[in-house]
Amino acid sequence: MRILSIETSCDETGIAIVETSPSENGMSITVLADTLNSQALLHAEYGGVYPSLAKREHAKNLGPLFLEALTQADMFEKASTPEVSTETLSELKDLFEREPELFVYLGTLLAQIQKPAIDAIAVTYGPGLEPALWVGVNFAKALARAWGIPIMPMNHMEGHMAAALVQEKDETHFTISAPQLPALSLLISGGHTDLILIKEWTDGNHFHDYERIGGTRDDAVGEAFDKTARLLGLPYPGGPEIAKLAQEAREEGLAQPFTLPRPMVKTEDYDFSFSGLKTAVRTLMQTIGEPTLEQKKQIAREVEDAITDVLVAKTRRAIDAYGIKSLIIGGGVSANNTIRDALEKVVHEYADIHLYKPSPTLSTDNGRMIAFAAAMNQSVTTTGVELSANGNLSLD
Ligand code: KG4
Ligand code: ZN
Repeated sequence: MRILSIETSCDETGIAIVETSPSENGMSITVLADTLNSQALLHAEYGGVYPSLAKREHAKNLGPLFLEALTQADMFEKASTPEVSTETLSELKDLFEREPELFVYLGTLLAQIQKPAIDAIAVTYGPGLEPALWVGVNFAKALARAWGIPIMPMNHMEGHMAAALVQEKDETHFTISAPQLPALSLLISGGHTDLILIKEWTDGNHFHDYERIGGTRDDAVGEAFDKTARLLGLPYPGGPEIAKLAQEAREEGLAQPFTLPRPMVKTEDYDFSFSGLKTAVRTLMQTIGEPTLEQKKQIAREVEDAITDVLVAKTRRAIDAYGIKSLIIGGGVSANNTIRDALEKVVHEYADIHLYKPSPTLSTDNGRMIAFAAAMNQSVTTTGVELSANGNLSLD
């Protein structure tokens, strides 16, 4: 089965094309095309993602990325006669009422090319920024309508999980199979800090029965990184910036004169709270005044350590309580080496737990992870006509 996937939930536009086939105990996946456009630099001046700018950029970038993906997959073939009727084109025009420029691009292209050998369109329909999600959903609807193929609506967080679960054979060949159960997923990104329990994996390639056992009560962990980075005068996205300074503090053997709180580290639940950490950094900055570079490095290290301690404590607690056999980490923050190493250490303390983590390039948002999620969920399809974006879509 050939799947074209679309991701537009936040500030990355991604389109991938994969070919999937059932294998011994799961799915084999070949990546035929993988395209990505990051808007991070554009949002940097706002210190975070600016929704209407994100929406506009997705509308601008989807068309060219789509063309690039078809070209990469060797699926771009000019048609001698138009393959999409004028009637269908006028329906597409209605779909893109709010993104007329996208209609002009896509309509022109679809009228000129042969229908590629693609069987379904997988699209992120939530969670995320709703105006941004809608651009991807409408794009998916247009392709599905023009080519008469189904839509596979995908949950962005399941995409992050799938990015961790795939085993990489080489750059373009992957397999995905059921983890040992019960599994626990720690999903850490700009919008999420979730602990998800997975008790059942139905038929070897379609997993479900998620239970969210804990999550953040205020800021998400990525937000905590981004907001403290901003207080330190570092650019958006702040996570990699904090990580870089923290690493320098360790390499230079700097003293650790500052202590920040580990919010909720001892509470008997699986919940998180990170807004207090941001407030503590703000208070600290007020007492210091203008920090030196050395002080910035020291604070960055303490921020990273505080966040890591809390994530580790709650994850360990869940592992013990539920007899976890697989730990699946995902989301942009899972690119953080200190957090990865700390979780790796936890897993090593147990004889029989497997850690699934995404390769660093698959940690942050991308189109491929949505295709991987689709490969795990091959039975989930709709005609897509009634599909709506849902900014608050949950896993359970
Ligand atoms: O999953 P993602 O790309 O987008 C969302 O779905 O939110 O995650 C983005 C978040 C940002 O908050 C960014 O600062 C954080 O992931 N991030 C990191 C690192 N790389 C990205 N946080 C800490 N350390 C990193 N190395
Ligand atoms: Zn994400």
